Amino acid sequence: MMTYQNPDIAKAAETLFARLETLDDPATILRAPELGALYLQIRTLPNEVKAPFGRELNELKIELQGRVDESKSSSLESPARIDVTAPMDVNVPLPSLLPTEHGSVHPLTQEIQRVVDIFGRMGFVAEESREIDDQYHMFESLNFPKGHPARDDYDTFMTVETDTNGDPFIAPAHTSTMQNRILRKYHEQLASGEAIAAIVPDRVFRNEDLDARHEHTFYQLEGVYVSRGVHAGMLIATLKTFLEEYYGQKLEVHVNPYYFPFTEPSFEFGLSCPFCAGKGCSVCSHEGSIELLGCGMIHPHVLRAADIDPAGYTGFAFGCGIDRLVMMKNQIEDVRHFESAKLDFLRQF
Ligand code: PHE
Repeated sequence: MMTYQNPDIAKAAETLFARLETLDDPATILRAPELGALYLQIRTLPNEVKAPFGRELNELKIELQGRVDESKSSSLESPARIDVTAPMDVNVPLPSLLPTEHGSVHPLTQEIQRVVDIFGRMGFVAEESREIDDQYHMFESLNFPKGHPARDDYDTFMTVETDTNGDPFIAPAHTSTMQNRILRKYHEQLASGEAIAAIVPDRVFRNEDLDARHEHTFYQLEGVYVSRGVHAGMLIATLKTFLEEYYGQKLEVHVNPYYFPFTEPSFEFGLSCPFCAGKGCSVCSHEGSIELLGCGMIHPHVLRAADIDPAGYTGFAFGCGIDRLVMMKNQIEDVRHFESAKLDFLRQF
């Protein structure tokens, strides 16, 4: 630092050079208020002091400018420092979220809430499924032994990793994967005379070709009911009661024989079309009725796999596609809209 004769300039120089060491951006020193004050001071000085004062002040400014230039060129030469504690730029403004009034509950979530509410009023508790499961819950516990041909009816996604038996894990292709867990979880209430009554509304995954009726990710509603003396009439009455509440009208229902390894007997359950009172319309493909879901009486092997004695207890189970229910209700023509995240679709609900 040069020596300055004028005491005011000398004092300012000392302050400013000290401050320069602490600044992230040294160039800001050239706009320091102390410098501005000295320039203003010139006008107040007697004429004979003005000239030397002005000269010294310019020298100070030039010296400061020199230091600023030096620091710029040295920072160009040395590689940029990396702040290991904050590798991202912590000074960028945070992205702001959309105002909440722009959001809405997904149409499937809205309907799942209704379904859970209706079954809740009928005495069923709701359970969650999972997004990855094992072969035991997907197949064995449901009476599909290894090599059973009906395993091929489910186009399952499997993991490359295997469990301790060397079997791949599975993205559940139906909510029936939860039957064994539900039966075990509520097993004890059977002894006290209370029924097991649970539903599982959750996601399932199938590795199939996609079109307007097939999506790799969709929702099912599983129902499980076990007690003493449960028979198929109770299954049909339960489903009819639910559907009449859901569609808000009286419906005709019917069952046809079907096959599932985990129910015996098994049925395909249908209803008169709620949209045309059975006359025929685009929703029911002009049939007047709709085949809606699979169901049946829980197979004794499935009860035994959960340590429930089939001689003492019987039960029913059903599995219904939730997307299908919602598509029918709202005349949605393509199942792929649900997972598309398209706002022009979602904003209609
Ligand atoms: N899990 C069967 C399916 O996805 C449906 C079903 C559930 C059938 C429960 C009977 C009992 O195809």
